[in-house]
Amino acid sequence: MCLCGKNVLVCSAMIEIRNIHKSFDGRVVLDDISAVMEAGKCNLIIGTSGSGKTVLTKCMVGLFQPDSGEIVFDGKSIIEMTDDDRKSLRRQIGMLFQGAALFDSMTVEQNILFPLDMFTKQTQAEKKKRVNEVLEKVNLVGSNKKFPAELSGGMKKRVGIARAIVLNPKYLFCDEPNSGLDPQTSLLIDKLIKEITTEYKITTVVVTTT
Ligand SMILES: Nc1ncnc2c1ncn2[C@@H]1O[C@H](COP(=O)(O)OP(=O)(O)OP(=O)(O)O)[C@@H](O)[C@H]1O
Ligand SMILES: [Mg+2]
Repeated sequence: MCLCGKNVLVCSAMIEIRNIHKSFDGRVVLDDISAVMEAGKCNLIIGTSGSGKTVLTKCMVGLFQPDSGEIVFDGKSIIEMTDDDRKSLRRQIGMLFQGAALFDSMTVEQNILFPLDMFTKQTQAEKKKRVNEVLEKVNLVGSNKKFPAELSGGMKKRVGIARAIVLNPKYLFCDEPNSGLDPQTSLLIDKLIKEITTEYKITTVVVTTT
């Protein structure tokens, strides 16, 4: 979908955005946005800087509440879900934030352990094994003890992706995974996101600037 006017795409899907409105202090950012994100595919949200891509993404993952409209996951509207359903949905969502948003004072391993510590009761050994699995997936084997400041931009994005997929999410949101990267690294990140989407049958939403 493109955030450049009204959007209505229809097909069989897993995430539906229905007539979303969102304003901040009377300033309209999202004006009646509707779209469908297809299951098991890489779906794109494209728009110019400031057009509301991040706000829309945050509405979809539940970090912002839309003023009106509905976000529907697998036929269930977030608004109508019970608190337990909503918690379990959160657990199924992985997010790569714009700029990767790693914790600077934590190592790569500690960054990726964070969701495992928060949401699972796995043993330390199981968690470390899972960290190494996802690090392998993003081609960063052996980077466990590095701090974000020691990583290149592309490596930071890959750690962000590893952290986003560590809980085996059903839905993956990537906010501008290519920003600030050279064209070659950008292509590698695109390829990695597509590979992960196909391999794990995730419904992925990628935000990108026009
Ligand atoms: N928490 C907030 N409070 C007030 N205004 C906000 C807030 N978050 C975003 N906005 C405003 O919403 C508009 C859209 O912002 P958003 O971050 O979604 O743009 P974007 O399309 O992601 O841009 P970029 O490509 O630069 O990341 C901007 O005008 C921004 O100032
Ligand atoms: Mg943004």
